[in-house]
Amino acid sequence: MKLEVSHTILNIKDSNIIIEFYSKVLGFKVSDQGLIGGAGPEIIFMSQDENEHHQIGFSVQRENLDHSTQLNHISFRVRTFDEVQEVKNALEAKDFEYLPLCHGNSLSLYFNDPEGNTLEVFFDTPWHVIQPQTEIWDTNMTEDEALKWVELTFKDKPDFSKIEDSKKEFVNRT
Ligand SMILES: [Fe+2]
Repeated sequence: MKLEVSHTILNIKDSNIIIEFYSKVLGFKVSDQGLIGGAGPEIIFMSQDENEHHQIGFSVQRENLDHSTQLNHISFRVRTFDEVQEVKNALEAKDFEYLPLCHGNSLSLYFNDPEGNTLEVFFDTPWHVIQPQTEIWDTNMTEDEALKWVELTFKDKPDFSKIEDSKKEFVNRT
């Protein structure tokens, strides 16, 4: 399997200050923001690259600023569905637990390293849908079954579109 670093999510305290800094100082654009699971915490996704829905994300759940940073998770992309299965099998072989979550635009596995750092490995789907989205997916599905399930599950959600169309929209966003 080949893992490419995709994005990092940090826990933050003040979304206004953080959005201001990452947009005005560093030149990121907000790609989406909303409440995880409809109830919270709030999450803000930012990117400078239309090929990456978010290069960095911020989950508004940090309570204090005592330490220099607070990592929520690091995410790695794999280019094939089979590599997701490879990661799953490697985790199962060592008795690591994992959570299979689908964001509509990805089929992801979330798991912790031995010191509790959260990691995500994901495979892109051909679609975009407004974020955040989370549904558990059945890792026993084949790639075809999984992609059909994703389309059925998310096609009625806001902004559901082909990923290429959503990339064009993001490039033109001011
Ligand atoms: Fe993620």
